Amino acid sequence: MQEKNVVPTLELLEKIEKEALLELSKISNNEEAESFRIKYLGKNGLLLHLIKGVKYLSEEQKRTIGAKANNLFRSIEEKFKQSPWKKQISQIIKETFDPTLPGFPFPFGSIHPLTKIRNKIRDIFLDMGFSVAYGPEIETSYYNFDALNFQPNHPAKDMQDTFFIKAEEILLRTHTSPVQIRVMLAQKPPIRCIMPGRVYRKEEVSSRSYCLFHQVEGLYVDTDVSFADLKGTLLSFAQQFFDTNTKIKIRPSFFPFTEPSVEIDVECFLCKGNGCSICKQSGWLEILGAGMVHPNVLSNCNIDPNKYTGFAFGMGIERIALLKYGIDDIRLFYENDIRLLKQL
Ligand code: DAH
Repeated sequence: MQEKNVVPTLELLEKIEKEALLELSKISNNEEAESFRIKYLGKNGLLLHLIKGVKYLSEEQKRTIGAKANNLFRSIEEKFKQSPWKKQISQIIKETFDPTLPGFPFPFGSIHPLTKIRNKIRDIFLDMGFSVAYGPEIETSYYNFDALNFQPNHPAKDMQDTFFIKAEEILLRTHTSPVQIRVMLAQKPPIRCIMPGRVYRKEEVSSRSYCLFHQVEGLYVDTDVSFADLKGTLLSFAQQFFDTNTKIKIRPSFFPFTEPSVEIDVECFLCKGNGCSICKQSGWLEILGAGMVHPNVLSNCNIDPNKYTGFAFGMGIERIALLKYGIDDIRLFYENDIRLLKQL
């Protein structure tokens, strides 16, 4: 029965019809359905060979047997299409493929809390007309200390506090203030710039301090820059960052590179100044150091202190993030535990 172009006879057609219908009724799985289709209805299947064999018949036989062969093909094909197995295949496809379903969910990443705080600080100062500058994390002792008016025996220069890389000359910067020097050497006033970056200190690692952290430095140098400009700029920053009604408190302090030097507290944003555990019942949070740029620092950068004045400030990003998110261990910021990052 498998040879090509079988010459059809009425008996042969009847026999094949019976066999095909019997086989069709016995199909019990998808593989059997596919074998049936190949055997009877495929391009090389029995029924097409019978149809092709019609050409060997006489004209009269062609009309009767030929028509019967064609009808047989169509009727078997029709019955096969209605067989539950054939139906099932198309149904399976219909049921399992739903182009309207949403795609597989891929979890989103999120911005690290320290980056979020840094971006927010940066955007506030960008709006006030400041630009952004960066400096190297590996610094020379000159930029990190001497040009900033640190005296030769200043305790910060001690091996105990600073990671020195080569003798006492090359070090990991202990603050972002050396970028001030680089900016003032590279640009002429007016200078309005913030300098975010990572800094390093040889500290005992604990829940409160870590060997690296992040700061944002700020610098404004021009003719007639006054302490009132410092106050106004930082009050505006605090009110944009925390709350429009936030108050600030300015306390005298000391930094070698500013004169006068101050520390600025903002009203505790949690208790609104009433006293809580975060502000240790004081109602105030210590946020940044600032001051008027020391004339020696301007001179070190070839800027005439008789013509120009400036203010500078520096704040720690971790400190603000710890307070804002109510986190009690700074190390959590560096462990990248997905459970913490998801919460913030
Ligand atoms: N560099 C200081 C620190 O690391 C912070 C600072 C204080 C920066 C006063 C300043 C400033 O520019 O004027 O503690």
